[in-house]
Amino acid sequence: MPLVTWTDNLSVHIKEIDTQHQKLVKLINDLFDAVTAKKGKDVLTKVLNELVDYTRYHFTAEEKLMATHNYPDLAKHKPEHEELTRKVLDFQKQFNEGKAMIDLLLMNFLKDWLVKHILGTDKKYSSYLNGKGVS
Ligand SMILES: [Fe+2]
Ligand SMILES: [Fe+2]
Repeated sequence: MPLVTWTDNLSVHIKEIDTQHQKLVKLINDLFDAVTAKKGKDVLTKVLNELVDYTRYHFTAEEKLMATHNYPDLAKHKPEHEELTRKVLDFQKQFNEGKAMIDLLLMNFLKDWLVKHILGTDKKYSSYLNGKGVS
């Protein structure tokens, strides 16, 4: 069973962003599956790297979209991305050095962060950006 399930209530009504969020859901599920299947460190490293890289790609794309359209709450939104990026990069370093494990606590943290951030923060730009013709 997947850890995170995409449902329509996660939609921000912007096609490009929904596609990116769906990919993040998939990558979290891929990591969860790899851990559940007790895959080796090489596989876990690869999937974790993919998730980290794609998360950073998504944050950059989302911030660029908000900046392009002068979204007034970008300055409040960006620090949430920055904090998660810091935490994830720190975890990745610990994992690579053999000082941390990918466990259920981490997986639930990633899941909760993504869902809460989309529902609580990303969704706030929906109507503003839709009003600028972004859909
Ligand atoms: Fe965001
Ligand atoms: Fe997002």
